[in-house]
Amino acid sequence: MSQPRTDLAPGRFPADFTWGTATAAYQIEGAVREDGRGVSIWDRFSHTPGKTHNGDTGDVACDHYHRWQGDIELMRRLHVNAYRFSIAWPRILPEGWGRVNPPGLDFYDRLVDGLLAAGITPWVTLYHWDLPQALEDRGGWPNPDTSKAFAEYADVVTRRLGDRVKHWITLNEPWVVAFLGYFTGEHAPGRKEPESYLPVVHNLLLAHGLAVPVIRENSRDSQVGITLNLTHAYPAGDSAEDEAAAKRLDGFMNRWFLDPLFTGGYPRDMIDVFGSWVPSFDESDLGVIGAPLDFLGVNYYSPSFVQHSEGNPPLHVEQVRVDGEYTDMGWLVYPQGLYDLLTRLHRDYSPAAIVITENGAAYPDEPPVEGRVHDPKRVEYYASHLDAAQRAIRDGVPLRGYFAWSLMDNFEWAFGYSKRFGLYYVDYETLERTIKDSGLWYSRVVAEGQLVPTESVA
Ligand code: FCB
Repeated sequence: MSQPRTDLAPGRFPADFTWGTATAAYQIEGAVREDGRGVSIWDRFSHTPGKTHNGDTGDVACDHYHRWQGDIELMRRLHVNAYRFSIAWPRILPEGWGRVNPPGLDFYDRLVDGLLAAGITPWVTLYHWDLPQALEDRGGWPNPDTSKAFAEYADVVTRRLGDRVKHWITLNEPWVVAFLGYFTGEHAPGRKEPESYLPVVHNLLLAHGLAVPVIRENSRDSQVGITLNLTHAYPAGDSAEDEAAAKRLDGFMNRWFLDPLFTGGYPRDMIDVFGSWVPSFDESDLGVIGAPLDFLGVNYYSPSFVQHSEGNPPLHVEQVRVDGEYTDMGWLVYPQGLYDLLTRLHRDYSPAAIVITENGAAYPDEPPVEGRVHDPKRVEYYASHLDAAQRAIRDGVPLRGYFAWSLMDNFEWAFGYSKRFGLYYVDYETLERTIKDSGLWYSRVVAEGQLVPTESVA
């Protein structure tokens, strides 16, 4: 553990803390056929009947592509000093590699300049799930050429933006990409090929590792990291079997990613659990994957309570629904899980810095009445999780920033527009944005650099 921050009063955050909100290209941009953008796997998937709630697609989404200037104003109103967004790979390289599409780069160039002019630091995610369909047609992530294509894409983007963007996130949530995209097929590209799961994870981590030196070369003095979706795994009961099940879930969701990134190899116990599923690969890949990082991005929503199961090979783990509050996604609200996760990451991996790159909650909001959207449960969610984050900082975790998911309601992947995560409410008929009470509350927290009473916005 590094030094506890005894200088910080309860509820107060460090003066240089990064306060932001986050979005992703396909979830907000729309304009999918504009300015030479190529087709992504999410265009194809969402247009395939039965894949998303209500057949919703990102064709229009929040129309951010045309409304980005107004959206910067929304951020200003929140007083945030940072904004995490992703770049749509098919806008930059419509076929995934080779031919560059200049108007795609121009869009992000304008956005970056607009943010900087507003005093908002851009944090750019290179891959938030919208793989060019042309690459999927050549095999997608199971094909190691996709990792090389990613490094090429990272090169093109960082050459253009690297002078002004100094915070880079290579990938968003590789577990979700591999598991939901290629194992269960709930996400694009919708493949149900369990045997592809571990090769996809490996190729994603390799893509990340290949891109890191490219980014550092093109964007001098920048901070480079990766974002993982991490959970804290608790045994549901106190049997040794449940303990072991929790350790396996932790291995599956957390350590299979953290170990190669921070300790140079995949976890031994999980290699045994996965057995013949583990792909063969070149040992030198591990050196590439383990390139030192400036920060670890953590997306935290909910913990996992698990028990041993006779089914579900090879993990033999079952999630248990415990008593408590659940969000509209059916995710348990459990802020202590964030504290336990952060302190554990610091203890076991000691990344140079940790940044919460996503945290937030979906609740079924009512449309605005007289310009107000009351969302007390979301305010509580943010308050309790920021409190957990603040306690972790006081206890010595090098947590440097927090990004609320999300700036505004948006296309929630397979759930379409049915789940609202925004600090701003979006009317999908008019595309009008209205600040929610959670946005008003967050703006006060950010402005004061400390937690403020949740009743202050009621
Ligand atoms: C995360 C994704 C993000 C958003 C939130 C709710 O897994 O990174 O795009 O959908 O969940």
